[in-house]
Amino acid sequence: MTPADCTAMKRRGEKLAVLTAYDYPTARLLDETGLDVLLVGDSLGMVVLGFPDTTHVTLEHMLHHTAAVARGVQRALIVADLPFASYDTPEQAITNARRLLAAGAHAVKLEGGKSHAARIAAIVAAGIPVMAHLGMLPQSIREEGGYKLKGKTPESADALQADALAIENAGAFAVVLELVKADVAQRISTALQIPTIGIGSGPACDGQVLVTHDLIGLFPWFTPKFARQHAQVAASIRTAATTFIHETKAGA
Ligand code: KIV
Repeated sequence: MTPADCTAMKRRGEKLAVLTAYDYPTARLLDETGLDVLLVGDSLGMVVLGFPDTTHVTLEHMLHHTAAVARGVQRALIVADLPFASYDTPEQAITNARRLLAAGAHAVKLEGGKSHAARIAAIVAAGIPVMAHLGMLPQSIREEGGYKLKGKTPESADALQADALAIENAGAFAVVLELVKADVAQRISTALQIPTIGIGSGPACDGQVLVTHDLIGLFPWFTPKFARQHAQVAASIRTAATTFIHETKAGA
């Protein structure tokens, strides 16, 4: 899969299936299953490293996990998040995007709209494909004060659409829409040539992304309302560990 394949899929009306991966076995399993894009998301800060939000994730964390994912992938496009405070200037963004590529990513993702268009254009001009991220921006959680739905007023919906057009013009090949009101996400998906990848943003997006731990029930302490859970891995781990404890204590 390439960024151009993602755009071609939108033109053909084919939906993009995207999941997060942070380690070799999960990446290999998901790749073998036929996922289009694997996102080494900075959500790893919460679901793998135990931080309260993504602002604690460093570039070193991202490089370590991106390299592990890359070792397991043959087909899918690997997109790695530029973490918090790693793309404050165009120069810093290019340097850190290059490091993620050297670790095995095929493209990088960053959060922000119009205000980040120049940085997106600079990374793209350096030959690195960029996925943008609009709507609820987890790296801005301290300013946002929570995970809230975006695009509820006509003004905020128009601003989101203007951001989406700005990042498309800057050269992004796709955009994540996180927690965007479904009709606004639909309008943006129609207005853009590049695919929109929704998370909690309704069915009209050109693709869907989920944090894999939410899909497979591996982070039982919190599951977003919009996530459909198709496995209960945490329950299986608890059962297996309990069985092991009982067998060991019984001398079996
Ligand atoms: O970090 C992540 O996993 C993400 C998805 C929620 C889109 O950015």
